[in-house]
Amino acid sequence: MDMKQLYPKSRLGWLWENMEGKRGLFIFALFGTALYNVLQLVVPHFSGKLVKLFQRVESEGLSLTENADTFYRLIFLMVGLTLFRVIVVYLDCMAYERVSQGALFRIRNFLYDKIQRQDMKFYSTYRTGDLMTRVTGDLDAVRHNIAWVIRCIVESLTLYLSAAVYFFTIDWLLALCVLSLSPFIFLIVFRFRRKVAPMHKALREKLAGMNTDAQENISGNRVVKAFAREEYEKEHFDKTNRDYRDTNIRTQKVWLKFFPFVEFIANALPVILLLVGGMFIIGGRIDMGDYVAFSLLIWAIANPMRMMGNIMNEFQRFSAASDKIMEIYYSEAEIVDHPDAIAHPQRFEGRVEFDHVSFQYEDGKLPVLRDITFTAEPGETVAIIGETGCGKTSLIQMIPRFYEPNSGSVRVDGIPVENYKLTDLRKNIGLATQDVLLYSDTIEGNISYGAMALTAEEVEKYARYSAASDFIHRMPEGYDTIVGERGVGLSGGQKQRISLARALAIKPSILILDDTTSAVDMETEKQIQHSLRNLDFPCTKIIIAQRISTTKFCDKILVLKDGRILESGNHRELVAAGGYYAELVKLQLGESLVSAS
Ligand code: GTP
Ligand code: MG
Repeated sequence: MDMKQLYPKSRLGWLWENMEGKRGLFIFALFGTALYNVLQLVVPHFSGKLVKLFQRVESEGLSLTENADTFYRLIFLMVGLTLFRVIVVYLDCMAYERVSQGALFRIRNFLYDKIQRQDMKFYSTYRTGDLMTRVTGDLDAVRHNIAWVIRCIVESLTLYLSAAVYFFTIDWLLALCVLSLSPFIFLIVFRFRRKVAPMHKALREKLAGMNTDAQENISGNRVVKAFAREEYEKEHFDKTNRDYRDTNIRTQKVWLKFFPFVEFIANALPVILLLVGGMFIIGGRIDMGDYVAFSLLIWAIANPMRMMGNIMNEFQRFSAASDKIMEIYYSEAEIVDHPDAIAHPQRFEGRVEFDHVSFQYEDGKLPVLRDITFTAEPGETVAIIGETGCGKTSLIQMIPRFYEPNSGSVRVDGIPVENYKLTDLRKNIGLATQDVLLYSDTIEGNISYGAMALTAEEVEKYARYSAASDFIHRMPEGYDTIVGERGVGLSGGQKQRISLARALAIKPSILILDDTTSAVDMETEKQIQHSLRNLDFPCTKIIIAQRISTTKFCDKILVLKDGRILESGNHRELVAAGGYYAELVKLQLGESLVSAS
């Protein structure tokens, strides 16, 4: 119920929305379920009729031979309708399968799209294993709900109601006696639901936790190995796994507490029928045929009662799972195109301006950037230097609008970045991030990721720019070498150079390098610096660096400290100023002098 406040639709409303295109089929399936369950009453009904026929034959001294066609007609009807019922059940199963798979397909695609479009904040909130649980296990619970749970509910309801109505048409008083215990079932099921709902929620969390552990350990396997933590991780997983299993068992056991009551009521039904029915027969209120119809159908009242626990369990599993999916389904990225964003299909000139920009992470306690103001003119190279954690990465993330400033403005070509369409803005920015992520694909595929139409020569050219072509050529399969997940199989510096080639390959008007040459040797770095100065397309470069050798030739150097610009100017000016940068130069040059001697 609380869902209604959280999301625009209730769980079932949401399911209905996602059955688009299959709603007619679903209604057909529901009718099918109702139909084949009503048909279940047919055999007992005709059996009752047969008994009546025999009784009449006997009591009125008629011969059965004369009434043979009635007898055969009844038998034929019973067989025919049973066959018909089998066909309906078959078609019905197919229909549910189609509807549930259709809805699943739709939701899965929608979720994937949603997740893709999320901003950085989303990815720092949700863990991969948790998201994976949502698009796998949780989605399966949703499918199960359509294909099985809803069907069981309709089945139980139809059976119960049609049997009840049928009973009333035979004898209302006997019907009333037989049905008198039903309300207790609802009471029991209601209490059961209250108890079991939170357990299914907990179960769902545990599953996600377990998946996250597994996912992190598999992708972080190198760390596990490096620290020889296999035993620990194994035991840890064993514990989580055990806990999950035990919670599962505990959840299943809840019904066992309620089960005896339900079973007692279900078993009491035939006894009541025997007692009251017997009295009514003796009293002449009903005849043997009526009694047979009642007793052959009493299961149609008892079975739905017995099913309740199972249905409720499954429905709670669905509820817990669908909440998790709907959370993503209805989540909105905060950083999206503004309604009046301008389209800018052509190339940017590449002027980047920060105008009194301050920024704090939403979950952070302190401002990370304070009052940052600078301009990178088209074609200029601006270096950002500063100690670790001073806000360099945070700063450059404002340019492609991964995060938005709390105050101040970031402009590209004089227009605030939020006024561009995100794709237009980001298409113009080549970014090599600090932690390199490569796809499990060929090296060529990785380099041309942002610019699919590259020729082999062009791929090679960008690899040359990033001083990667030599080592790629030395690999047995060259550009066709498949790199592992996240670039396993390459050295840190090799990965960085491929990521640089990938950023260059889109011929960006703004190139942002976040510590991209930190893992390459001095000589290679020199080569890279050289090619960056001689690119065959105009490009503004913003380079985060730690080495003076990188910053030396830059047009402008920003020294960042605690989120503020401490000093800015070119190498000569900053050395002359004798501040932090000058100290850094002394330190690094001193070091290299020491190592040279
Ligand atoms: P290095 O890459 O180590 O040289 O540091 P940096 O200058 O790139 O620092 P960065 O901009 O990554 O971080 C600046 C500060 O912001 C640090 O104190 C971080 O702890 C903090 N920070 C970085 N990312 C996040 C984030 O996603 N959420 C929160 N709350 N804080 C963050
Ligand atoms: Mg950083």
